[in-house]
Amino acid sequence: MPIDTRAIEASGRPLTAAATLTRLAVIGVAMLGVAGAFAYAGGWLSPGRLTPARLLRAFEEVNGTHPGFRRNHAKGVCVSGWFESTGAAVSLSEAGIFAPGRVQLIGRFALAGGMPMQADSPATVRSMALRFVPAGGEEWRTGMNNIPVFPVNSAQGFYDQLLASKPDPATGKPDPAAMRQFLERHPEAVRALAIIKTRAVSSGFADTTFNSLDAFRFVNAAGRSVPVRWATVPLQPVVAETPAQAAAADKNYLFDALIAQIHQHPLQWRLVVTIGQPGDRTDDATLPWPADRQQVDAGKVTIDGVSGEDGGSCTDINYDPLVLPAGIEPSDDPLLSARSGAYARSFTLRAGEKEKKAPSAVTTQIARAGNKS
Ligand code: HEM
Repeated sequence: MPIDTRAIEASGRPLTAAATLTRLAVIGVAMLGVAGAFAYAGGWLSPGRLTPARLLRAFEEVNGTHPGFRRNHAKGVCVSGWFESTGAAVSLSEAGIFAPGRVQLIGRFALAGGMPMQADSPATVRSMALRFVPAGGEEWRTGMNNIPVFPVNSAQGFYDQLLASKPDPATGKPDPAAMRQFLERHPEAVRALAIIKTRAVSSGFADTTFNSLDAFRFVNAAGRSVPVRWATVPLQPVVAETPAQAAAADKNYLFDALIAQIHQHPLQWRLVVTIGQPGDRTDDATLPWPADRQQVDAGKVTIDGVSGEDGGSCTDINYDPLVLPAGIEPSDDPLLSARSGAYARSFTLRAGEKEKKAPSAVTTQIARAGNKS
C-alpha cells in the first residue's frame, strides 16, 4: 500500500493509510470547528442569539441612525487633564498609574442615550470616561455613570430594557405594556430602579459623582487580589438640581455650564476606590455593596481642557472597560465582556461614517465660547 511520505509523525515513523485517513478526518473536523466558531461568533448559525451587532441594531431601532456618533452616550464633549496619585492604592494594585506622580488624561463627559442632539435634562444619566496614559506605561480606560447601581445585570437585560424603552410613535413615550413586560422578566431591574430613583441629582457635571458600577479586581505586586469598585467624587461644592433650573434652562445647559467652568478654572475629582468584602457580589452591577466598606483615596483627577467631539482628542477613543493595565483585572461581572463587544461594534460603525457625521451641538457651543484644550 503506497505511503503518503508527507504524513510522517514527529517520531519519524511512517503512517499507515488508515492512520492517514483518520488524521485527515480529525483535521477536517477541526477545520469545521474553527469555521463553526467564526459563524457562531458572527451570529450566523443562530440568528436569535444576542451578538454585539444585534445589540447595536437595537440602538438604531430605538434612537434612529446618527452616522458618526457613538450609539450610546452620543452627546458628549472631550476633555483633558491629569491624574495625580496619592500613592495610597499602591498596596492594592501594581498598576504604574498608582505610583506617586502625574499621569496624562483624555476624558469625555456625556449623556446616556443614542441621540446626539437630545436636550440636557436632570434625569438623563451623566457619564465621565477617562483614559489614563502613563508615559511609557500601560494605559487604563474607565467609563462611569452618575447612578448608584446599573439597572440590569446582563446583556439580555440591557437589550430587553432598550427595546422596552422605544418611544411609541403615537405618544412619543415608551409603551407602558412593553415596560411592564420588561420589569416582569427582570426583577433585578425593579430593585435597581427603586434604588436609582432615590438618588440626589446635582446641578451639573462638575458637582457630580460618577461610579464604575461594575466590579473589578486590584492585584498588588505580591499577587494579592481584592474586589473593587471606584468612583470620582467632585471637589467642587455640590449644589442640588432644582426642577426650576432645568425648566428654565437651554437645551445644552449642562454642557454650556461645564464648558464655561473649565474655561474659568480646572475642575477636580477624588478617585475613591471601595474594597469589597467576602460575600459582596462582583457579578451583579444591580446590587450595591454595604456603605461601610473601606475606601482608599487613590488620587486627584484634574480637568483643565475641553474640546469638541468633531475631531477632538476623545473622538477616536473607545472607552472599553477591558482596556486595563497589569494590576487591574476584570471581575466575573458578565456586563464587562458585553460592554467590550458592544463598544467595539459601535466604534467600528462610527469610524466608518466620519464623512456623514453632522456637527455635534456641543462642538458648536465650544466654538462660540472659544476653544481651549
Ligand atoms: C450590556 C451593557 C451595556 C451596553 C450594551 C452598553 C453600550 C454602550 C455603547 C454602545 C456605548 C458607546 C461606545 C462607543 O461608541 O465608544 C456606551 C458608552 C458608554 N457606556 Fe455603556 N453599555 C453597557 C453598560 C454600561 C455600564 C454597566 C456602564 C457603567 C458605568 C456603562 C457606561 C458607559 C459610559 C460611561 C459610556 C460613554 C463612554 C464615552 O464617553 O465614550 N455602560 N455604552
